[in-house]
Amino acid sequence: MNVLVTGGCGFIGSNLVRYLRRTRPDWKVVNLDALTYAGNLENLIDLEGDPGHLFVRGDILDQAFVERLMREHAIDAVMHLAAESHVDRSILGPEAFVQTNVLGTQRLLEASRKHGGIRRFLMVSTDEVYGSLGPTGAFTETSPLQPSSPYSASKTSADLLALAWHHTFGLDVVVTRCSNNYGRYQFPEKLIPLMVVNALHDKPLPVYGDGANVRDWLHVEDHCQALLLALEKGRAGEVYNIGGGAERKNIEIVKAILALVGKPESLIRFVKDRPGHDRRYAIDPSKSRAELGWTPAHTFERGLEETVRWYVDHRDWWQRVMSGAYRDYFDTQYRAR
Ligand code: NAD
Ligand code: DAU
Repeated sequence: MNVLVTGGCGFIGSNLVRYLRRTRPDWKVVNLDALTYAGNLENLIDLEGDPGHLFVRGDILDQAFVERLMREHAIDAVMHLAAESHVDRSILGPEAFVQTNVLGTQRLLEASRKHGGIRRFLMVSTDEVYGSLGPTGAFTETSPLQPSSPYSASKTSADLLALAWHHTFGLDVVVTRCSNNYGRYQFPEKLIPLMVVNALHDKPLPVYGDGANVRDWLHVEDHCQALLLALEKGRAGEVYNIGGGAERKNIEIVKAILALVGKPESLIRFVKDRPGHDRRYAIDPSKSRAELGWTPAHTFERGLEETVRWYVDHRDWWQRVMSGAYRDYFDTQYRAR
């Protein structure tokens, strides 16, 4: 199997590439990534010299280039993760989200259709397509699509385009919609790594609104396992929800992080709320469990503790990310060759 992973240098993508190399060592993984601010080749430093992983810098918007790449490497499957992923950035500048998430996905689908050899296209979508829940209930795959932010609206468009390419053109598409991931190599703009880094610097921890918004946390390695199962066992044209079953209020997470790093709760600052802030997400993962045989291996408290320890032990990684130094790595490792 030759699999094209898009966005393989981002947070989930780099964990997925590593997971695929570990669990499917006979596969070739072609990792197409534009290396935006969120793409960091250093996330895969341990795969340097691995002949089963090929990194290619490129943009999913460049359809002709993607088609050539698919032909050249006889790609059989696509796992599509490349995206603009941060909700706050989508509020400040929505256009990049429409470009990459909507148009980029359409071009990738077209390249896959024209290439002809794609046996499966896995679209990595998000639970944010469903919008916000009240205090009870959980999203199922048939919940109405009611995205709130420019990010989630762009992901909903991409998700529906992928399904349209299945229904209209017969491309074998499976869509996964997962909840908030946490784990190693997450860009420190997202809640958990941001709070760890700020706490370690004794800087204020900005909690939006009243801090009672709820997210359903999923360990990134459990997510990677679900993605591989969906690729191998999912039914064409189907959607699978993936959730960690760990609903937590943001304020609970922030307090847990402070306790883990031994810093005082006086660092917490309640700040102006995110516009259009979804109140609660919760996933009903019954379909993934029944059809894919997926069950998460990590419990949240243990997973959070290990994750926080990873950031504490990998100051170099996030210091290079925050200073921008990680961008030099591509130039020294690849362009110079
Ligand atoms: P991320 O921002 O960490 O990584 C995105 C990657 O995509 C980066 O490496 C970036 O360089 C690359 N990229 C961006 N634009 C590109 C382009 N035009 N061409 C090629 N590569 C490009 O994102 P993430 O958090 O790892 O999320 C990965 C995917 O999972 C996204 O599609 C996101 O919507 C989805 N998702 C994420 C979460 C989460 O909690 N992080 C939850 C649900 C779904
Ligand atoms: O649910 C899946 C989604 O989860 C993915 O599709 C997105 O790509 C991913 O970024 C994530 O979106 P969120 O908006 O839920 O994640 P974020 O880490 O930005 O915020 C998590 C919660 O924490 C949210 O309720 C907003 C809050 N928050 C976030 C930041 C960055 C704060 O209170 N303060 C902060 O500084």
